[in-house]
Amino acid sequence: MPSLLPLISILPVLASAAALTPPSQLFSPLISQKILATASNTSQTLYPQYTDTLLGQWQYFVPDTWTSGFLPSLMYAMNTRATLCPNGTDGAAAVGGGTWVELGRSWSAAEVPLETVNTVGHDVGFLSFPFVDELALNPQNQTAIAAVNAFANDLAARYNPSVGCTRSWDTADPTLFTVIMDNMMNLDILLQSEALTGNTTLRDIATSHADHTLLNHVRPDGSSFHVVYYNATTGAVISKGTAQGYSNSSTWSRGHTWGMYGFTNMYSKTNQTRYLDTARAMATYFVNNVPSSGVVPWDFNAPTDPYRPSDSSAAMIAATTFLFLSQQEASLSPPNKTGEQFWVNAALKVLNDNIAVAWRPEWQSLLANGTVNNVQSPPNNLTGIVYGDYYFVHSGNALISMGLSTCNGSAGPSATANGSTTGSGSGSGGSGGSSGGGKSTGMRGVAVSGWVAALMAMVAVVGAMV
Ligand SMILES: *[C@@H]1O[C@H](CO)[C@@H](O)[C@H](O)[C@H]1NC(C)=O
Ligand SMILES: *[C@@H]1O[C@H](CO)[C@@H](O)[C@H](O)[C@H]1NC(C)=O
Ligand SMILES: *[C@@H]1O[C@H](CO)[C@@H](O)[C@H](O)[C@H]1NC(C)=O
Ligand SMILES: *[C@@H]1O[C@H](CO)[C@@H](O)[C@H](O)[C@H]1NC(C)=O
Ligand SMILES: *[C@@H]1O[C@H](CO)[C@@H](O)[C@H](O)[C@H]1NC(C)=O
Ligand SMILES: *[C@@H]1O[C@H](CO)[C@@H](O)[C@H](O)[C@H]1NC(C)=O
Ligand SMILES: *[C@@H]1O[C@H](CO)[C@@H](O)[C@H](O)[C@H]1NC(C)=O
Ligand SMILES: *[C@@H]1O[C@H](CO)[C@@H](O)[C@H](O)[C@H]1NC(C)=O
Ligand SMILES: *[C@@H]1O[C@H](CO)[C@@H](O)[C@H](O)[C@H]1NC(C)=O
Ligand SMILES: *[C@@H]1O[C@H](CO)[C@@H](O)[C@H](O)[C@H]1NC(C)=O
Ligand SMILES: *[C@@H]1O[C@H](CO)[C@@H](O)[C@H](O)[C@H]1NC(C)=O
Ligand SMILES: *[C@@H]1O[C@H](CO)[C@@H](O)[C@H](O)[C@H]1NC(C)=O
Repeated sequence: MPSLLPLISILPVLASAAALTPPSQLFSPLISQKILATASNTSQTLYPQYTDTLLGQWQYFVPDTWTSGFLPSLMYAMNTRATLCPNGTDGAAAVGGGTWVELGRSWSAAEVPLETVNTVGHDVGFLSFPFVDELALNPQNQTAIAAVNAFANDLAARYNPSVGCTRSWDTADPTLFTVIMDNMMNLDILLQSEALTGNTTLRDIATSHADHTLLNHVRPDGSSFHVVYYNATTGAVISKGTAQGYSNSSTWSRGHTWGMYGFTNMYSKTNQTRYLDTARAMATYFVNNVPSSGVVPWDFNAPTDPYRPSDSSAAMIAATTFLFLSQQEASLSPPNKTGEQFWVNAALKVLNDNIAVAWRPEWQSLLANGTVNNVQSPPNNLTGIVYGDYYFVHSGNALISMGLSTCNGSAGPSATANGSTTGSGSGSGGSGGSSGGGKSTGMRGVAVSGWVAALMAMVAVVGAMV
């Protein structure tokens, strides 16, 4: 069980938050306009991944790239928005749910051949997102069923029983076995395929991978290593370090948020408390290590002098995870009201602080200030990123479906200090699919506005400690 001490140190941060209401940009008409502009680009054989740094224009990549599932899956997320918000200010409904679904389907088509041949390794889970979305709408779609099962088998084939994990990256030396934290995001495809086929081996692989990751990637203080190198023959840990972070002993922000999300998802689908505890510990580390500006740096340990680029994509993944984690706290029996409220506040704070900096109306992407890879040569920092935009939209959808926000950003029915109203609570945390959150929970008694909310959270946290 994670120590409560980290919670104590967050209290001043929450108490100083000016206004914990959802940022209005999450409901801007520019969301629909920009995604449609990208979609109407007739080339559906190349996919946007990140923008340039000056003009914010998308850079396009072949389908056999780990990020190609995000744009089609974002279109399914806009269908969800149109459904949630028939009169929303974001313009999703004006475009029409049917149109978003057709766009998502047509932009998925170039991914289908990847079932047979691809070079993305473990990232078949990310590629599968739009097919999981399709099945949530149309469970009989054979193309989508085949895709989910094929991608799951691809990942399962990367499992090594000596190590107990699926291999993330291929290596020249086959006895060197590399596992990165990001791989936690891809385990969901195994559970999706198990749900379709009843093949429990896929679940066993997912839990074994998660168990080894919580043991070897997560440090006692809740921070995380990006990479663990195992010996493929003996299963022994050879070394731990980073590929995209600042140093071998640092915590690379985006990898950390992939882990936060992945463990929350594993808890939601297995009810194993060790996954909830790991998600809480990692999320608590995140909250306690964001600098006072609230802007998420690309690596928590990168020096601030010289200037340290931000990563708005890590911020959006964190926000989506906090809302998902809040739902898990609410699903406990009895519901953990303190935890439920704590993670809602954390989500609203990270959204407000980072969207204020990164929202960029004149760019093709929704957000700027994302860092793809700051250690490659030359560094790739301060761009728009397709998965940053993806989790931006998902966090807005989750706020609405949890009853925390209306479709124009005003406080939702659950966002009252009184608690006499409940939200529909039908949302998932977002992710590989609209079906991402296994448990649905109402959000009761949630206060989210202003310093009153912060104080209530303080009281609740202090109450839980005594
Ligand atoms: C459309 O896609 C092409 C590549 O397929 C790219 O070069 C071009 O910049 C894109 N245009 C817009 C407006 O996104
Ligand atoms: C949406 O707007 C229409 C027309 O103004 C109205 O009839 C309808 O009740 C509204 N729906 C919701 C859910 O607010
Ligand atoms: C089934 O799903 C695939 C892939 O998601 C999509 O391209 C296709 O249009 C869907 N078919 C129907 C009939 O909806
Ligand atoms: C279940 O999945 C595993 C991993 O892909 C595979 O080896 C096995 O053959 C599958 N079992 C059945 C009955 O299909
Ligand atoms: C893994 O262990 C085997 C057997 O001890 C050894 O031959 C091999 O060199 C090791 N590989 C690495 C990458 O350490
Ligand atoms: C991490 O350790 C490896 C092996 O010692 C080394 O090659 C690499 O440069 C280190 N990475 C960083 C960022 O320090
Ligand atoms: C987890 O527990 C909930 C209720 O406590 C139950 O509805 C759900 O089916 C369980 N899920 C799994 C995967 O065991
Ligand atoms: C955000 O990105 C802009 C360039 O697009 C840059 O000028 C600004 O300093 C960045 N802000 C942060 C906090 O990284
Ligand atoms: C409630 O949630 C908080 C934050 O995750 C956690 O620290 C605390 O242990 C939880 N309490 C219970 C009773 O589960
Ligand atoms: C950001 O990327 C640019 C290259 O695009 C590089 O020159 C600069 O050093 C990077 N900034 C930091 C603080 O690492
Ligand atoms: C926002 O939505 C709420 C509930 O649908 C509505 O009562 C309110 O008038 C709306 N505010 C604006 C500025 O549109
Ligand atoms: C909350 O609302 C309910 C129903 O209107 C009311 O009975 C209750 O007294 C209110 N509680 C507080 C603390 O205001």
